[in-house]
Amino acid sequence: MGSIALLVVVCTSSSWLLLPHPAAAATAPKLPVRAVNLGGWLLWRINETTFNLRVNGGQFWGVNSTGALVATATTPGQSETFQLMRRDSDKSRVRIRAPNGFFLQAKTMASVTADYGQNTKWSDNDPSVFVANNVGGLRGEYQLCNGYGIANATQVLMNHRNIFITERDFNFMVSSGLNAVRVLVGWWIASGDNPPPPFVGGSLQFLDKAFSWGQKYNISVIVTLHALPGSQNPYEHSATRDGSQEWGNTDANIAQTVQVIDFLAKRYANNTALLAIELLNEPLAPGANLSVLMKYYQDGYNAVRRYTPASYVIMSNRLNIANQTEILQFVGSFDGAVLDVLDLVHSVKHGGRQEDEISF
Ligand SMILES: *[C@@H]1O[C@H](CO)[C@@H](O)[C@H](O)[C@H]1NC(C)=O
Ligand SMILES: *[C@@H]1O[C@H](CO)[C@@H](O)[C@H](O)[C@H]1NC(C)=O
Ligand SMILES: *[C@@H]1O[C@H](CO)[C@@H](O)[C@H](O)[C@H]1NC(C)=O
Ligand SMILES: *[C@@H]1O[C@H](CO)[C@@H](O)[C@H](O)[C@H]1NC(C)=O
Ligand SMILES: *[C@@H]1O[C@H](CO)[C@@H](O)[C@H](O)[C@H]1NC(C)=O
Ligand SMILES: *[C@@H]1O[C@H](CO)[C@@H](O)[C@H](O)[C@H]1NC(C)=O
Ligand SMILES: *[C@@H]1O[C@H](CO)[C@@H](O)[C@H](O)[C@H]1NC(C)=O
Repeated sequence: MGSIALLVVVCTSSSWLLLPHPAAAATAPKLPVRAVNLGGWLLWRINETTFNLRVNGGQFWGVNSTGALVATATTPGQSETFQLMRRDSDKSRVRIRAPNGFFLQAKTMASVTADYGQNTKWSDNDPSVFVANNVGGLRGEYQLCNGYGIANATQVLMNHRNIFITERDFNFMVSSGLNAVRVLVGWWIASGDNPPPPFVGGSLQFLDKAFSWGQKYNISVIVTLHALPGSQNPYEHSATRDGSQEWGNTDANIAQTVQVIDFLAKRYANNTALLAIELLNEPLAPGANLSVLMKYYQDGYNAVRRYTPASYVIMSNRLNIANQTEILQFVGSFDGAVLDVLDLVHSVKHGGRQEDEISF
């Protein structure tokens, strides 16, 4: 195995801002100022006007029979579905129609209720008019697909991939002395042409292309599962829906992830361009629990080894840890495993032979 001159990143996610995160305030008559800070609500967009509203603990707002806002539901249903109506001439002014048909209003400085039935002139005195303040843009493939909808997202991503990295880039890479490329994929790549919404099909054919160009130009391919179901970090490149990080919370979730590794290993095991499969990118501590992660590494490693004895299996250090060597020994116990430390291929053990180390 030669040394890797450089790792080139092919990014499959895109940078589009689609959802606002409101922090709203309202004023109303009688009091000089009545402002209610609704905090950082996370909007789950159903369509242009319809949303679920999530709080940071993970629950969804709903309305109880006396019109109070309650955040108890852990999955959103009809009774957690709100409509956001924006003022035409000033889109930051919104009214929020609750599932009971009434608008939310700032009733006192400390409470918001869903019991306002009147029309609005959008004045500052109207307690049902909120000012939405987008405090954090998110991006990534979940939001892109969710924002465009299946038909448009399929087209947008296809157009993007057709021009973003092409065969010419492989030609350029090899003529520049590079000999390996790291390709990032999302878990839904294993779901065929109709993955669970909002994701769309199409990424698999581009991974196939990367492998065929890799073979043609003698460039090895490292496939990294960059977005895990539930997201292993809160960043857009893990295709998080709303900045939450929920990967690894259940055994079923881990098993589903291992299935994706199994799919990739099976598909490319005998492809001469395959250099390594990276089980995940940048798990963030403490949300990414160390014992859960080690179980996944064991299972993911076994899945790769079912199909190929030769390709490297890359495991990633957690981000946000004090002890950078917390899994060094663990990773070293696997034949042909590599530890990815802050995106640098740092250490490899392959039968203990020095010449097999990947240098950077
Ligand atoms: C948005 O979704 C809601 C709830 O499913 C539906 O009632 C409404 O008709 C949809 N609106 C549009 C514009 O598609
Ligand atoms: C609705 O929720 C409010 C606020 O939590 C609570 O005070 C009230 O008792 C609840 N009403 C019912 C019918 O549960
Ligand atoms: C989807 O594409 C159609 C046709 O180009 C366009 O009219 C529509 O606005 C698009 N929808 C979104 C959400 O971008
Ligand atoms: C392919 O690249 C490797 C180094 O990455 C080199 O050892 C080998 O000779 C190359 N093969 C061809 C056919 O160019
Ligand atoms: C890879 O090739 C070997 C030898 O031809 C074969 O036994 C094995 O089934 C192949 N594996 C896959 C996953 O196609
Ligand atoms: C990690 O998960 C294990 C098993 O689910 C649990 O026992 C342990 O308390 C968790 N550790 C942390 C730091 O959350
Ligand atoms: C880091 O973690 C490893 C594995 O648990 C342990 O052996 C080592 O002593 C730790 N280092 C420090 C500085 O805590």
